[in-house]
This record gives sequence, C-alpha cells and structure tokens, in this order.
Amino acid sequence: MLDRVEPFEFVPVDFFCRASLREIFPERPEAPVELDLGCGDGAFLLAMARHHPDRNFLGVERLLGRVRKVCRKAWRGGVANVRLIRLESRYTVDWLLPQGGFSRIHLLFPDPWPKKKHEERRLVTPGFARAASGLLVPGGEFLFKSDHPPYFAEAAAILRAEPAFAELDWREDSFAYFETDFERRWKKEGKRIQGLRLRLRDG
Ligand SMILES: C[S@@+](CC[C@H](N)C(=O)[O-])C[C@H]1O[C@@H](n2cnc3c(N)ncnc32)[C@H](O)[C@@H]1O
Repeated sequence: MLDRVEPFEFVPVDFFCRASLREIFPERPEAPVELDLGCGDGAFLLAMARHHPDRNFLGVERLLGRVRKVCRKAWRGGVANVRLIRLESRYTVDWLLPQGGFSRIHLLFPDPWPKKKHEERRLVTPGFARAASGLLVPGGEFLFKSDHPPYFAEAAAILRAEPAFAELDWREDSFAYFETDFERRWKKEGKRIQGLRLRLRDG
C-alpha cells in the first residue's frame, strides 16, 4: 500500500461522520496516535514519526500544497506511520476525528490573527478546548506553543480554564520534542517561545 504517495493523504469517505482510527491507519490501528493541528511543512510531524516508529502521527493542514509536500516527504523517506488530512482544524476536531482516540495533540505556532477584525479566525476558543479534550485518551496530553505573547496569553487562559485539563510542567528534557519549521524561523529572529502542557484529567 505504501509503495505510492497517495495513501499518505487520508481522504474521508464521508465528511459528515467521524472516521475511525482503523480507516486512517489500517496497518496498525491499535498503536497510539498523535495529532498535529496545522502541521505546515511537516518538519515536526516527520521528525516525531521517525523518532517513534511505534506510534502513528496524523497531520491536519488546510493548504493543499503543504499537505502534498509532507506526503511526498513521508513517502520518499519511508515514514510509514504518518497520514495527512487536508481540512480545517476546527471542523476536523469537532466533527471528523474519533473521540477518545489520541494520546497527544500538538498545536504548534497557530496563526495568532492579531487584528481585532480577524479575532473570529483564532483557533483556540472555549468550544475548541472542550472538543480537543474529547479527542484524547485518558491521561492524554495537549501541547501548545506560540511565538506571539498576546496570543499565547489569550489561548493559554482559555485552555487552562477548560475543566477537563490539568497543567503539567514542561521542561526541555521532559521528552523528545522536535523543532517545527516556524519555530526555527522565530528562534533565528530572536523571538521568545512559550509553551503549555496540559493533561486530560482522570474521570
Ligand atoms: C504559522 S504556521 C505553523 C506551521 C507548523 N505548525 C510549524 O510550527 O511550523 C500555521 C499553519 O497552520 C495552517 N492553518 C492555519 N489555520 C488552519 C486551520 N484552521 N486549519 C488547518 N490548518 C490551518 C496554515 O496553513 C499553516 O501551515
């Protein structure tokens, strides 16, 4: 199946019901799955997938060119535990992905949409926080990073206010975590990177 690039892109049969992990990762549906929302050019997704061949990785990205690029990189690099969905993150979280299916969700450097007139485009809202918590397995984690202090403050306050989440310490050496394409860019520009690590509470 993975001798072609096409199977790396997951195209749901039905966009109006939740896909199963078996449909997305037919080879190993029982392996832990990590979700990268707005995966961009996929440096983080592919590095994580290479580092954890025992887990599955799903990237969500709305730009077709980026989706195709990451699929090609995964295919050429033989990174078989990666799939991409070309779709809008909020819709994907709310309606498409299986609930209780993901061990970690990564939201790394989402667009901050700083202008007031674009405020409704910001991804993190109380409804998003609730829906994202519903996708996690018990003890699953939500990891968020931003280079934009006002957006980090706003989004972190919303995520911390979600009762399903408890905050955890996130040190550099907590676990292997690779730089994203944008992170590399922002660090070169001397920007300060902030991160938040949350865990789904038991029960
Ligand atoms: C600033 S880039 C960060 C990309 C990557 N996470 C990184 O850190 O290198 C934001 C990415 O999210 C994608 N994106 C923005 N809004 C999105 C949405 N609502 N649904 C899916 N992808 C989205 C953009 O196309 C872009 O690739």
